[in-house]
Amino acid sequence: MLPASGLNAAVESADFITIDPHKAMMASSLDKIRVKGGTRLNGTIPISGAKNAALKHMCAAMLTGDAMQFTNMPVRLKDIQTLAALMKEMGADITLRSDGTMFIQAANIHSTEAPYDLVRRMRASVLIMGPLLARFGEATVSLPGGCSIGTRPIDLHLDGFRAMGAEIILEEGYVKATAPQGGLRGARIAFPKVSVGATENLMMAATLAQGETILMNAAREPEIIDQGEALIKMGAKISGLGTSEIRITGVKSLHGIVHDVLPDRIETGTFMIGVALTGGTIRLQKTRLDFLTSLVGPLQRAGVTIETEGADVIAHRNGKPLIGTDIMTEPYPGFATDLQAQFMTMLTLCEGAGMVTETIFENRFMHVPELQRMGADITVHGNSAIIRGVKKLHGAEVMATDLRASVSLILAGLVADGETIVDRIYHLDRGYENLVEKLESCGAQIERLSNQPAV
Ligand code: EPZ
Repeated sequence: MLPASGLNAAVESADFITIDPHKAMMASSLDKIRVKGGTRLNGTIPISGAKNAALKHMCAAMLTGDAMQFTNMPVRLKDIQTLAALMKEMGADITLRSDGTMFIQAANIHSTEAPYDLVRRMRASVLIMGPLLARFGEATVSLPGGCSIGTRPIDLHLDGFRAMGAEIILEEGYVKATAPQGGLRGARIAFPKVSVGATENLMMAATLAQGETILMNAAREPEIIDQGEALIKMGAKISGLGTSEIRITGVKSLHGIVHDVLPDRIETGTFMIGVALTGGTIRLQKTRLDFLTSLVGPLQRAGVTIETEGADVIAHRNGKPLIGTDIMTEPYPGFATDLQAQFMTMLTLCEGAGMVTETIFENRFMHVPELQRMGADITVHGNSAIIRGVKKLHGAEVMATDLRASVSLILAGLVADGETIVDRIYHLDRGYENLVEKLESCGAQIERLSNQPAV
């Protein structure tokens, strides 16, 4: 195994991970991953804390000057380190410990601006806006622009802040938001479309607003419930978490807490799909199957056995062929868009055919041409794809386009004939902790080809 590389913006010692904010904003590894197909996955994988909850908890730490402590944080993820770098630049005091503990204290914030170079690398940095606006009365965040899975506007976030009395100015690619005299005001906000990010941003902002805010057609993801529960521990008044109507009554101030981040359901689902493809038995430790009901049904129909044992999930497939099955992505509790690419990869080897319909993002089929290069039979019609099962995939040099597309190519490589090289794996570093090591421990022939020059 070659050492991990890239510009060393994050340096890990026995106990701590040190972040250099300036390098973190520039670093982007050009490493590749080589996979040799043909081995079954058998073993045990510890599941990390959920990236998409962890990032929001970090933003929420901006709501108080008190010390916050989070455990089960996926501290090795690039997105977590990038956000830590941004918050450090703003004046927050942050310590990342190798055991997954993070300490944050935002007592001395001297800047409320999130620059373009960072926001373009990680869209989730727009989630810092709600907390900054609520606590300091102002926030300046670069407009994120499009990304590989679609245009991804932030209009729902901004309309919500306006409804709470904020003035929003768009200037030179930046959004400048200013709270009215006396702070944000509670409002009734009916989202025209379900949005995870807008629900979270406005829920955070509303915790310190005057009066009651009602979020209607709110998102119901487990990560939003986790965030809401942490906010309640901090002293926020929130009801309706996990339903499509969340009510928040603003309080004067919030206080520090200790919070354990929930397990990553997308990482869990990715490994379950992995073993469906390769065959074998894997035990996924310290996770939650109840967050994955929309995946369990289709996997069982395809021929995978799934059990739980305490907090562990055990997924198993014997040598029988996978049966083609259809899925459609939807807001939670529907099938997660973040598992769509992996599921499509599984269908490439099914008996018969399966259909995948993507309803969340308009451009989330970027993995299709790469899978086709490996021999998959996929026809795309608008936002649906028909996948007709083939006997074999063939190893190839493929290019990752976003986080979940990247991992779907790694999964394809695990069952392809010969060798697959996945390029641009910096996407993977954003969202999968120790992916190579975890798969290797279950018998996969996988290695990271490191020390390419970084940009
Ligand atoms: C979150 O993105 C996740 N990111 C995504 O995870 C995930 O794919 C997505 O939710 C859907 O589940 C984080 O949590 C950091 P949305 P988010 O707002 O909040 C449109 C991954 O791989 N929309 O629910 O940005 C939007 O374009 C990723 O980990 C507007 O039109 O997603 C999309 O079509 C990538 N206007 C739909 O709503 C807005 O103001 C849902 O997006 C906001 C969103």
